[in-house]
This record gives sequence, structure tokens and C-alpha cells, in this order.
Amino acid sequence: MKRIALLTSGGDAPGMNAAIRSVVRSALAEGCTVVGVRRGFLGLARGEMEEMTSRSVADIVQRGGTILRSARHPGFVTREGRLEALEQIRRHRIDGLVVIGGNGSLRGALELHKEGVPTVGVPATIDNDVPLTDASIGFDTAVNTAVDSINKIRDTATSHERTYVVEVMGRNSGHIALHAGIAGGAEWILVPEFPANLDQVAERVMASERLGKAHSIIVVAEGVLVDSPAGGNQGPEGESAGFRVGRYIREKTPFEVRVTVLGHLQRGGSPTAVDRLAATVLGAAAVRALLDGDGGVMVALAGDDCRRVPLERVLASHRPLNQKLLELCHLLASL
Ligand code: F6P
Repeated sequence: MKRIALLTSGGDAPGMNAAIRSVVRSALAEGCTVVGVRRGFLGLARGEMEEMTSRSVADIVQRGGTILRSARHPGFVTREGRLEALEQIRRHRIDGLVVIGGNGSLRGALELHKEGVPTVGVPATIDNDVPLTDASIGFDTAVNTAVDSINKIRDTATSHERTYVVEVMGRNSGHIALHAGIAGGAEWILVPEFPANLDQVAERVMASERLGKAHSIIVVAEGVLVDSPAGGNQGPEGESAGFRVGRYIREKTPFEVRVTVLGHLQRGGSPTAVDRLAATVLGAAAVRALLDGDGGVMVALAGDDCRRVPLERVLASHRPLNQKLLELCHLLASL
């Protein structure tokens, strides 16, 4: 294992740079050469690679985004697409690869491993939907960004005694909504894992007013499935989940409603200390796994430690949403 390549792929996540720094410096410390691949699997297929030094990762531990850039490359699902990458890996004499990203990226890592390239995955996605790791890099920062926004919305919601719907990211998962909703003191949280009953949400908003609350905050994950007789998925073309929920509450209650979609601002920003630490630990562990000849694994956070989980297992599993936390949020808000 002399030449180690690394790439970041899929949606970027705060802390990816801290992971890159850790991979590069850990590998250099072991006498390896490190090759940075630009634009994820797309760049790998195009051979966009350059050697990295300790200085190339200076001053990035605190920066959001990824200095290697990222891309989504649907072509990689085809054998043809992968053969292009394999050709570049051979041409650049790469002995092992570190892939930093979410579930889609880890699937790409597994495919390369099956083609005979020792590959190790590092979980990094703000969605935190990678199973079998305590957390993914970027989640903590994204949750804190969302909570910070909810705090600000709360100020104006109180002043005007309004209902606010805050839409957070999560196309297929509600982890950001759940954590940010609880930490932000939301009245109700809607997540894609469970069908949403908008009548229940409207009732909760009415009940809050009867309890003398100044405002209601409803947190909605962008991928939420709206299942309500009148709400349905019937909104105007392209209307996001948050706006659908907002429209329904406006129709069913006498309250003024405002909707805020946080969107991609949750993906940017300086990573929290928690994410920097996780990224640093996981980056070094990924290099160690490659040097131990242990390809085809994801390095995972497990309490104070790190463990290796076969990528096959990761991709065959699903990260469940903590339903008890969701119920706790709704219970506390009902009083
Ligand atoms: O990074 C994950 C995620 O934020 C999802 O929650 C979201 O739906 C998606 O990425 C959007 O990403 P993009 O706009 O880059 O396609």
C-alpha cells in the first residue's frame, strides 16, 4: 500500500475537509504517497488526480465544503462507467482508495472493492442516514445550523404570535428534522419515515393557542409524505413539503402562518468541534484499515472508539429513526 487516493462524493458535508486533512497526513506519516481525486467518482473516471502534500491540507480543518470538490455521477452505476475509473486507477498506480460520502458514495466504494480495488468508506452526510455508525460527519453541524435558524425564527414568531413552518433537509430521512426539532422546542415534527397527518398538526396548533403559547413552530423534513384527506400531495406543482404543510394550517386555523425553507445553507458553514473530531478520527482509521489490508469496509464511530463494518452490511441495513424521541418531543410540546 504505497499510493493512496481519496475522494469526496455526493452532497458535501461540513467536516469533509477535516477528514481529508486527516487522511492525507496519516498516510504521509506512514510513508505513503497521497493522490487527491477531484469531483468524486466523476473525476476518478476522468483521471482528475493530483498528489497532495501536508501543505495542501493546511488551514482547512475549520472550513466547510470540500477542497476536493464533489459531484454526483450517475454513470458510475454502470459497469462501463466503473471500467473508466478502473483504467484511471491502474494508470495512476493507485493501491487503495478512501471514499468520503453518504450511502450512494459508499455503494460506489463497494463496487470498486468488488472490482479488486482495496477501498475504505468514511460516512459523511448531513442526513445522517448511514447505518451502523453512531453518526456521519456533517450531521452535528447541520443540526446546529438548523437550531440556530429556529432560535431566530422563534424570536419573530413570538413578537407576532404566528405559526412558523421550518422546512429542513432530508429527502429520505428525518434525522435532521428530529434533532433540530427537539433542540429547537418544536410543537410538532414531520419526518419522511412516518406518514404525516396534517389534521393532527392543525389541532396541535389550535391546542397550543388554548394553552396560552405565543407561537407554534412546526419542523418539516423536505421529503415528508403528506397523508391527509384534504392536504394530500395535491399542492401546486413543485410546492415543497413545508409550503404544503403551511398552506394546510392556514386553511384549517385562524392563525397567520409563515414558511421558511432552510435548504442548502444546512450543508455549508464551519464544522462544529464534534464533526471535526469525528472526521479526524475516521480519516486516520480509514488509512489504518487500508494499511492493514482491510478493504471493503466502512470505518464507523462506536462510542469513544472506531470500528470497521463491511460495506456489504452497511448497504444492506437501514438507519431507523428514533421514534421514542419523536414521541417525547410531541408529549413535551402538548403541555
Ligand atoms: O446531502 C443530502 C441532501 O442534503 C438531502 O437531504 C437533499 O435532498 C439533497 O442532499 C439535495 O442535494 P443536491 O441539491 O445537491 O442534489
